[in-house]
Amino acid sequence: MMNTHMLILVLGPTSTALLVVLILVILFYRKRTVKNGREDMENMDRKYGVEAQIEELITFHGGQDLTISDILDAPGEVVGKSTYGTLYKALMQQSTTLRLLRFLRPVCCARGEEFVDVIRLLGCIRHPNLVPLLGFYGGLRGEKLLVHPFYRRGNLAEFIRDGNGDSHKWANIYSISIGIAKGLEHLHTGFQKPIIHGNLKSKNVLLDCNYQPYVSDFGLHLLLNATAGQEMLETLASEGYKPPELIKMRDASEETDIYSFGVILLELLSGKEPINENPTSEEDDFFLPNFMRNAVLGHRIGDLFRPDILLSNNNDDENRVTEERILKLFQLAMTCCSPSHFVRPNIKQVLWKLEDIGK
Ligand SMILES: *[C@@H]1O[C@H](CO)[C@@H](O)[C@H](O)[C@H]1NC(C)=O
Repeated sequence: MMNTHMLILVLGPTSTALLVVLILVILFYRKRTVKNGREDMENMDRKYGVEAQIEELITFHGGQDLTISDILDAPGEVVGKSTYGTLYKALMQQSTTLRLLRFLRPVCCARGEEFVDVIRLLGCIRHPNLVPLLGFYGGLRGEKLLVHPFYRRGNLAEFIRDGNGDSHKWANIYSISIGIAKGLEHLHTGFQKPIIHGNLKSKNVLLDCNYQPYVSDFGLHLLLNATAGQEMLETLASEGYKPPELIKMRDASEETDIYSFGVILLELLSGKEPINENPTSEEDDFFLPNFMRNAVLGHRIGDLFRPDILLSNNNDDENRVTEERILKLFQLAMTCCSPSHFVRPNIKQVLWKLEDIGK
C-alpha cells in the first residue's frame, strides 16, 4: 500500500537528485497546506496559478462528494499499467469507498483547452453499461487523475480465462455480449457526434457481481497527444483487436470499434486469446478471426466455440442454449471482424441481430 501522492512522485521523470529534493520540498509544503484547509489551498492556487498550472477538481454526477485531499491522500494499489498511465484501486478516506483512480502521465496528454473539453464531455456520459467518470483532478505540476467506480469482479479477459466455471454459461455469454453492444450503441449514436471508443478489448470491460458488463476507457485517446495515441493503437494491435485498415489512431471510427467488438465475441465463444503467440500447426493463425475463418473453411466446427457451452442449460427456457443460437452469434462475430469495413454491421444492426438471437 502506498500513497497515490507518493506514487505520482515516483513515476515522474525526475532524473537528478536535486529535482527530487526540490519536488519533495514542494510536496511537503503542499500537503501541509491541503491539511490546513481549503482557504490556504485557494491562496496557493492564486500564488502558483500564474506561472504553473491551476489546480482543479471537476466533479460529475455521482462524484459530488469528492475532495482534492480525498483523492490525493487515498491509499492506492496499482492494478494496471499502460504506456500513458497507471490505474490504482484506492480507498477514499472520507466516504470509505473504493474507487478506481486513473493517473495519466502529463507528457502523454493533449494540451490546452481541448483536454478539459473532452473531460467535460466524458464526464457527462451515463449508461448502465458504461463506466462513468466521477471526477477529474488536475494538479499544479500537470498531474491528471480521473476517478471512476471500482468493480470487484475485475475485467472480462480475466473472467473468460480464469476458469471459474461461469464463463462458459450461455446466459452469461449472451448477456455480456448484449451489454457491451448497448454501451457501444450509446457511444456511437447517443450524441451529436459519435464518440469512438478507440481501445475496445476484453480487458476494458469490467464486471460487477452479477456479471453485468461496464465498458471502460472509451474516448481516452481523445485525451492523449498524437504520439501517445499512436502507442495506444500499437498496444491494441499487439493484443489482436486492431482491424487491418486502421493505421493512425485519429482514423479510429465506428467500424474499427465494431471489429474490436467482434474479437471480444469470438473470445467469449471460444475462450481463446485474440492472439495465438505459439501456433502449433499450419491451421493455427496468429489472429483469432483468421484462425476462425480457417476453421470454417476446414469444417472444424469443434474449434468455433467451446463445447461446454452446450452443457450449460439450467432449465431456464428463455436463455436455453442451442447450437443454432451459438452459431448465429458466431456468424455475427465473424461479420463484425470482416477485413473489409464496408461489410461490418453498424451497432444498431448488431443489437437487432443480438436481440433476434435471444428470441
Ligand atoms: C507525447 O507523448 C509522448 C509519450 O507518449 C511524449 O514522449 C511526447 O513528448 C509527447 N509529445 C508532445 C508534443 O507533447
